[in-house]
Amino acid sequence: MAMPSSGSRAIEIKAVTIDVEIGRGRTLSSLRLLEDACMHVNRGEHVALSGPSGSGKTTLLQAIAGILPTRSKAKGEIFVGATRVLPSGRRETEELRATRLGYVAQHPAVFGRLTVAENVGYASRLLGRKVDRSAIALALEQTGLRIDPDRVAAGLSGGEQKRLALASALLGPTAPEVLLLDEPTAGLHVEDRAGLNDLLSRLAAQGTAVLVATHEDTSAQRRIAMADGHILRSSGV
Ligand SMILES: Nc1ncnc2c1ncn2[C@@H]1O[C@H](COP(=O)(O)OP(=O)(O)OP(=O)(O)O)[C@@H](O)[C@H]1O
Ligand SMILES: [Mg+2]
Repeated sequence: MAMPSSGSRAIEIKAVTIDVEIGRGRTLSSLRLLEDACMHVNRGEHVALSGPSGSGKTTLLQAIAGILPTRSKAKGEIFVGATRVLPSGRRETEELRATRLGYVAQHPAVFGRLTVAENVGYASRLLGRKVDRSAIALALEQTGLRIDPDRVAAGLSGGEQKRLALASALLGPTAPEVLLLDEPTAGLHVEDRAGLNDLLSRLAAQGTAVLVATHEDTSAQRRIAMADGHILRSSGV
């Protein structure tokens, strides 16, 4: 599916509105999560997505990753590069996540009975790829997670789990163009936070579009502010 706009766009969101059904029976009603959202991120840009709790950051990141809430209706269009994510089929978005898009959820799933290394390589192995230990070690090192890869993941702290999920996202896509991170620095020590921000800026300098939901100051080049399901403004930081 061809995208009409410029080739420098890594993410393009056009007039996206998402409503979800809430309640049940006679209390069934609809809640608007996003309204007429328009924004873009260029290749090689590091952009922060900010806004109060409940403003729609996670919803927006998930929509870009092709994950919509159950019982929701979405309007508008989302493109990742030339791939149409909204409206689109499940197969296209799964393919996108396997090849070109890395996504780290706000509360990433970590399998406590698997080792750190097994967790990092899990998604890639599911896709049938061989993952060697050096690639896993490199992904872990990039995130600053200094931990024995053979240790079981049960008991990792919140910040360690975030970095483990980020390592998995770095290893996952075969040709990452877009990295979506939902509050990756929450729970990290100030030095680790700086290290992570440096990593994100480096990835952007290599051409990846990095979009990060965050409540904190970051090294992002631009900030997109959200409130109450709306994109308020986009500005340099
Ligand atoms: N599946 C759903 N069903 C009902 N309400 C939802 C659903 N998903 C999100 N919401 C609501 O939509 C609003 C936006 O949620 P979202 O998780 O996107 O916010 P956020 O900006 O990421 O907040 P936080 O900073 O707390 O993570 C919230 O009020 C939330 O309760
Ligand atoms: Mg959130």
